[in-house]
Amino acid sequence: MIDTHCHVLKEEMNNYIDIIKECDSKDISMIINGYDNKSNKEVIELANKYSNVYSAIGLNYDGIDNFTYKDLEDLEELIKSNKIVAIGEIGLDYYWTKDNKDKQIYFFKKQLELSEKYNLPVIIHARESIQDTYDILKNYKVKGTMHCYSGSLEMAKEFIKLGFKIGIDGPITYKNNVKGVSVVEGIPIESILLETDSPYLSPEPNRGLQNSPLNLIYIAEKIADIKGISTEEVISKTTENAKELFNI
Ligand code: NI
Repeated sequence: MIDTHCHVLKEEMNNYIDIIKECDSKDISMIINGYDNKSNKEVIELANKYSNVYSAIGLNYDGIDNFTYKDLEDLEELIKSNKIVAIGEIGLDYYWTKDNKDKQIYFFKKQLELSEKYNLPVIIHARESIQDTYDILKNYKVKGTMHCYSGSLEMAKEFIKLGFKIGIDGPITYKNNVKGVSVVEGIPIESILLETDSPYLSPEPNRGLQNSPLNLIYIAEKIADIKGISTEEVISKTTENAKELFNI
């Protein structure tokens, strides 16, 4: 199995090294996502050290108020000089604030340009910003994944038409997630990627606890249940999807 989106990093979890090693012993790989150049460098170090770790690097909305053009230049240097599988986590988040919307959009577009330039897929964060995200993405020749997708089935189909996969994580296991279930029901398994967003969003039965890629199985089981196929099929198809998209 491949966890296509997690933050198994020192700043995020005390036991991150143990988690990486335990995942390796259980044949679980992970794409660790950075969000600023400090975490991006850490991701690259971990990927160089552990064979089950792949790196995605990017500048995400959380740090946006402090980012300068220099951060973009440094990001490009990291992309050029290291083996990475994607640019991410990047995107727009209007849930916390819309005040810095213009700056969010500027950094988002600049990183989509890098994606085109270096022919790398993107891992997209979109919270309460689905329409803007779509309107921007459609102008670029990029492929990637809509991480922790929370939009409608209709929009999911539009993203798939652009060449995107839909990332499904812990919340699919939560009671009453009618919208999430309708998305999984309505899109083909070829368009689904498994992810945890660890240490956040732990699936049932571990909801509320620290999440880790070891919980990926609960998400695969829930998708199998919704689609009426075996968990093995979900695992093998989504692993293929991830390998193809991220060139692993
Ligand atoms: Ni994330």
